[in-house]
Amino acid sequence: MIGGGQLARMTHQAAIAMGQSLRVLAVDSADPAALVSPDIVIGSHTDLAALRRVTDGATVMTFDHEHVPTDMLDTLVAEGVNVAPPPSALVHAQDKLVMRRRLAELGVPVPRFSAVATTEDVEAFARDVNRPVVIKTVRGGYDGRGVVMADDPQRARAIAAQYLGDGVAILVEERVSMRRELSALVARSPFGQGAAWPVVQTVQEDGICVEVIAPAPDLADHLIVAAQELGLRLAEELGVVGVLAVELFETVEGTLLVNELAMRPHNSGHWTMDGAVTSQFEQHLRAVLDYPLGDTSVRAPLTVMANVLGAPQTPAMSIDERVHHLFARLPDAKVHLYGKGERPGRKLGHVNVVGKAGENVADVRERAARAAHWLSHAQWTDEWDSHG
Ligand SMILES: Nc1ncnc2c1ncn2[C@@H]1O[C@H](COP(=O)(O)OP(=O)(O)O)[C@@H](O)[C@H]1O
Ligand SMILES: [Mg+2]
Repeated sequence: MIGGGQLARMTHQAAIAMGQSLRVLAVDSADPAALVSPDIVIGSHTDLAALRRVTDGATVMTFDHEHVPTDMLDTLVAEGVNVAPPPSALVHAQDKLVMRRRLAELGVPVPRFSAVATTEDVEAFARDVNRPVVIKTVRGGYDGRGVVMADDPQRARAIAAQYLGDGVAILVEERVSMRRELSALVARSPFGQGAAWPVVQTVQEDGICVEVIAPAPDLADHLIVAAQELGLRLAEELGVVGVLAVELFETVEGTLLVNELAMRPHNSGHWTMDGAVTSQFEQHLRAVLDYPLGDTSVRAPLTVMANVLGAPQTPAMSIDERVHHLFARLPDAKVHLYGKGERPGRKLGHVNVVGKAGENVADVRERAARAAHWLSHAQWTDEWDSHG
């Protein structure tokens, strides 16, 4: 597993149950997965020697992030390493321009976009679409880093000038008027088997996922089918091996546009750990090992995931004491912590709450959000006093 973050940590957790274990390439011995796997290589994912060390003798190489240079992956494939997903597929999750072009070619609906060579390109595009635009770095962005909104052509040009001045490749696209964001999560094995989980709604704040509602409430049947079929079709057409997340916009007109692709376990699939028969982490392993895929059915009609994001000010109360209080108050909240130090806005963990029979969406969302906020802030959103 390339990368020692929380996705690697939770994949390792799934590997244990399968009698497997992950060797992890981590940047630091304190990385979330380095804390739980006994087989750690410390090194950079942009160092070919480190990549060779970690893959030596491994059955398959897979990823916790998309930041390994594509040419290094091609080299490893040429040397006989089983890279899953293969670089020819992964590039569509690494490079937003390659992805936009390929999807447009396949006739998959995407926001209007343009490649950018000069600041004039950006200004001209913004004038052309006559709407606010979004400037994105072609590579390396995540959690909203590398995504900047611009309301007018001058501002778009100024943002582009900054990036281009720093030698960073960008693209520009229209800012979509959307009802909400969705995610279609699927998996595909080399054998060609595919499996789709229910389509979920994702809630972003400042470009970072804060909440996932599974399944997406009140999503029209034809859009559920369309999103799942799209996920499975893209997995097949691009030759994905492993989990594929298709981030979608549901437009105000009620159509679907593809935002971006991720070819690894994804934040929009964390709910599956407690809400589905097969978690995305187990499924990713099954797929990259070419096992038969697991059942993607839900365990309950509704599951809500809330991310635990570091508070602006780290609370004085220890995380251990916060967990203690949470368990006392919300015994059904399933806590998944990543073993990270606390920093403002950092993804520290998540909480899954599985809805009870007859419970409505708002109540389950409230419980999940209350639990996550408590864990990060040591404050109850309803000002409940645990010692009162
Ligand atoms: N074209 C767009 N129109 C409106 N909102 C967008 C657009 N592109 C991105 N966003 C918002 O920014 C978030 C992050 O953008 P994304 O391309 O997914 O970058 P990242 O790689 O950081 O996840 C999206 O989840 C969405 O909320
Ligand atoms: Mg995204």
